[in-house]
Amino acid sequence: MDDADLAASLDLDVALRAIGATADVDDVDGLRRELIGKKSRVAAVKVGIKNLPNDAKPVVGAAVKEFTTAVSDALDSRRSEIEREALAKRGPAVDFTLGTHGRRRGHLHLITQTQRELEDVFVALGYQVAEGPEVEDDWHNFEALNFPPGHPARAMQDTFYVQLGEPEQVVLRTHTSPVQIRVMETQPPPIFSIMPGRVYRNEAPSPRNSSVFHQIEGLAIDRGITFGDLAGTMQAFTTAYFGEGVRSRLLPSYFPFTEPSAEYGVSCPFCDGGGCRVCSHTGWIELGGAGMVDPNVLVNVGIDPEEFSGFAFGFGIERMPMIKYGVQPIKTFFDDDIRFLEQY
Ligand code: PHE
Repeated sequence: MDDADLAASLDLDVALRAIGATADVDDVDGLRRELIGKKSRVAAVKVGIKNLPNDAKPVVGAAVKEFTTAVSDALDSRRSEIEREALAKRGPAVDFTLGTHGRRRGHLHLITQTQRELEDVFVALGYQVAEGPEVEDDWHNFEALNFPPGHPARAMQDTFYVQLGEPEQVVLRTHTSPVQIRVMETQPPPIFSIMPGRVYRNEAPSPRNSSVFHQIEGLAIDRGITFGDLAGTMQAFTTAYFGEGVRSRLLPSYFPFTEPSAEYGVSCPFCDGGGCRVCSHTGWIELGGAGMVDPNVLVNVGIDPEEFSGFAFGFGIERMPMIKYGVQPIKTFFDDDIRFLEQY
């Protein structure tokens, strides 16, 4: 075969088909050597150009160049194609689809939101908001509230004691009622205050009980305050928080610091009092305690029970959103699971 025949034998179609049939980059690189490498047919043609007649030289030269360029380009694009396919099959090495550590706007915890909502209701009724310490002394948590030492009602409170000072004299407050005492000790009547805060009870956790929870206490002391004022206030609060149509009730109960004492409940907002799973088929949901401030308590804080009277109430804050949104169990509030918190 002379050089002219060789040039004619550079069949581009055959070469391109071979390139298209390669399966991996090694195939492509092997084919590159074979088609346009030092020992390839086109390399031999190129070497032979100098021996050709002058008029044939540019024609064969152009054919060699055209073949080499076309084959080289086709090999390059086939190689990239194979690499892209391999990458796509493997999937991205780093998954950026989760996003980065951007800043997310937080919001108040559902308990804080509820506490503020309850405060707003009572502030609108003319109440002030007061706070007190969570680590309390026996006087404020018990004794001033008419729980004398050894009184059986103390056992109802499942107290956590703090090892400080005399034994059993410092406690984690078991209710917000000690803040009533602190307010009355520092402020003359008339008093219209609410006292929200965290309280502690040493009781076994259950779907409805947690050893840490929140209460909101209310206290009204003035001349001529009656049980009717208490009932009216509880109904005003019930309507403001739960909406029209939810009724409140007061049933006889016992607390050492109120006389008479009552249990405060609302008609079940889910079944309108007809009975359902939420209210254990009773039609009512108990929210807390209430009553007329016991005269002994007024005496303990230096207020004359002949001149002044008042009512007090206290209930759990968690109970409110548990009822309103069906949150269960109570520990959901304290698990700090962002997926729960984000919903409110
Ligand atoms: N402190 C009481 C409790 O935690 C509730 C209560 C408050 C009852 C005010 C009457 C008056 O059980």
